[in-house]
Amino acid sequence: MYRIAVLISGSGSNLQALFDAQDQGDLGGAEVALVVSDRGDAYGLQRALARGVAAAHVPIPAAPGGPARQAARAAWEQRLANVVAAFTPDLVVLAGFMRILSPDFLQHFPDRVINQHPALLPADGGDTVTTSAGLVIPALRGAHVVPDALRHRLPVTGCTIHRVTPRVDDGPILAQAEVPVLPGDDQASLHERIKTHERRMIVQVVRELAAASCRI
Ligand code: GAR
Repeated sequence: MYRIAVLISGSGSNLQALFDAQDQGDLGGAEVALVVSDRGDAYGLQRALARGVAAAHVPIPAAPGGPARQAARAAWEQRLANVVAAFTPDLVVLAGFMRILSPDFLQHFPDRVINQHPALLPADGGDTVTTSAGLVIPALRGAHVVPDALRHRLPVTGCTIHRVTPRVDDGPILAQAEVPVLPGDDQASLHERIKTHERRMIVQVVRELAAASCRI
């Protein structure tokens, strides 16, 4: 069995897409073994518990700035890594996980962490993306890329699934889709259109990675 740990911070509709695909035998034999959130109120935790899937809340402790904050953050990452490692996942999926993970975390799961990003990212790690229509648009990185696409008045944005490397919102691309920005879009309508593609793509990528691992 190809075991997946899914890290979330919110609603978990992409997590639900993985659950649904698993139920329909459409996940290449992969199973979600663990769901972890940095937020206790993340609805995705309820989705996991409702299915009897292990769910953990690993909160980041509040700490003042400076070295104390850095130490608290490092200790949190170690706790998070310990929880995830206990479930021996073949793959760690960041599905709406709104924290940046350091190289210290990533070294626990080499080449096994993938991330969903609700914008187009370039394959070369640069600052622009060329769309299929030949339009050059800024590569949007960070936690606010859906409103950023509206702010830049982009005609098209998209979503990317990529392997996670120490460089934030960068790394080898596994799947990508362009999504039009429509007149009258607000953040909610645009994000929901993007998520429609993300939910399809995450199922496809997990299925392919599970199949590739079975062939090794
Ligand atoms: C998705 O759009 C995902 O790309 C995004 O959070 C959403 C989660 O939706 N991730 C990031 O922005 C990471 N920086 P969901 O909770 O409904 O699955």
